[in-house]
Amino acid sequence: MKKKMSILDFKKYKEEKRKFAYVTAYDYTMASIVDESDVEVILVGDSLGMTMLGYDSTVPVTVDDMIHHGKAVVRGAKNTFITVDMPFGSYEISEKEAVKNAVRIFKETGCDCVKLEGGSEYVDTIKAIIKAGVPVMGHIGLTPQSSTMLGGFKVQGTTTESAKKLIEDAKALEEAGCFSIVLECVPSVVGKKIAESVSVPILGIGAGKDVDCQVIVLQDVLGMYPDFKPKFVKIFANVREEMLKGLNAYHDESVSGAFPSEEYSFNKKVDLSDL
Ligand code: KIV
Repeated sequence: MKKKMSILDFKKYKEEKRKFAYVTAYDYTMASIVDESDVEVILVGDSLGMTMLGYDSTVPVTVDDMIHHGKAVVRGAKNTFITVDMPFGSYEISEKEAVKNAVRIFKETGCDCVKLEGGSEYVDTIKAIIKAGVPVMGHIGLTPQSSTMLGGFKVQGTTTESAKKLIEDAKALEEAGCFSIVLECVPSVVGKKIAESVSVPILGIGAGKDVDCQVIVLQDVLGMYPDFKPKFVKIFANVREEMLKGLNAYHDESVSGAFPSEEYSFNKKVDLSDL
C-alpha cells in the first residue's frame, strides 16, 4: 500500500530528484482505482466540465460542481494527495470571494489543497487563501479557463519574452507560497528552465520530460475521451475499446438469453402452484 504524500513531501521529492505522477479523477470508482495504483497525486480538475458534464470548455463549471465531485473523490482515495480546482469566476472577482470559495472547497470536500490558474497577477489572492489555511497549487502556461483570451488552446512561452514572463510567474507563485505549480503546454526547453528556476516542483502537462512530475487527464491516458486528443497525450491503455467490447458482449448475451445463466440467477424453489 502506498503512503500518502504530504505537502512537505513535494519539496522533499524535488530536492531528492524523485519524480512522481499526477492524474485527474472525478468520481468514487475512478478515484479508488487511482488510489490502488502507484500514482501519487489526484487532481479533481475543472476539466470535469468536458469529461464528466459534456461542456465544450471549463468555463461553465461551478464551485458546487467541484465540491460534488471533490467529495466523491476524497471518499474513494484515502492514500492519495488530492487537489481540487477552483473554477472560473470563483477567485477573480475579489480576494474575499476567493478566500470564501477556497475555504468552502477545502472544508466541504476534505481535499488537501486547491489549485488556481494565473501568474503574478494572483499573488495577493494566493497569499490571502494561504493565510486562511488552505494550501495552494499554482497553474501557469496554457490556462484553459482563459483560453479565449489566449486565442485558443495554444502552446505558450514560445518567444523569449513570453518564456521570461512564465519564469517570472513561477518565481512569483513560489514567493507567494504555492507549494507546487502546474505548467501546461510549453516547449520542453521552457519546461526545463522553469523547473530549474524554482525550488517547488513543476508539474508538467505538455511541458516535456525535464519537469518534476507529469500530469494528465485520466480519460486521455486511458483512451476514454474521443472528442479531442492533444499532442502531449499518450494513450497507455485503450479502456474505451475494452468497455465497448464488454458492453457489446453484455448486449449480445442479453438478447440471445445466454445471460443470466444459472450462475447469475437465484435458484431457490418457490411453490407458485396456488397462484
Ligand atoms: O482541469 C484539469 O484537468 C487541469 C489539468 C489540465 C492540469 O487543470
